Amino acid sequence: MEIEDLIARLDGMAARGEGLERLLEAAVEGLSRSDPRFDWTGVYELFSDNVLRLGPFVGAPTDHVFIGVGNGVCGTAVAERRNMNIPDVREITNYLACSASTRSELVVLIRSGDMIHGQIDIDSHQVGAFDEASVAKVERVADWLARAYDARAGETS
Ligand code: SME
Repeated sequence: MEIEDLIARLDGMAARGEGLERLLEAAVEGLSRSDPRFDWTGVYELFSDNVLRLGPFVGAPTDHVFIGVGNGVCGTAVAERRNMNIPDVREITNYLACSASTRSELVVLIRSGDMIHGQIDIDSHQVGAFDEASVAKVERVADWLARAYDARAGETS
């Protein structure tokens, strides 16, 4: 799926009033289908100040349903408030293996200014799978999702 088609699909779903969970599922499915190098694509939501919880994903089931902030690539992204693009996970020590086949990993935060809602996490079996264009694509979806979180907060307050 092309990024423009995915954004249009998400816009349509939001206009029809689909809930955040469905939007997260559609985002993950669309990204997963957008690149054959994306072998595992999922969302982790910030469950509390210190813990990430696995949301919708496409790929093999993982043991890492809860990840403490500061742990692994996912938890480090939140602790350091920055995206992570790891070309070869074999070269880092603070890594939580989801699959023995994973070689590279990308984590893009879903954030509205200082507020971190969660992250998109993508694993690839290829070394260095996440080039500038694929990072920009994932960032675009993460920014779209951040606005969906903001819209939900606006409804409940
Ligand atoms: N590799 C991640 C854990 C999540 S799985 O890849 C799905 C990490 O190091 O935080």
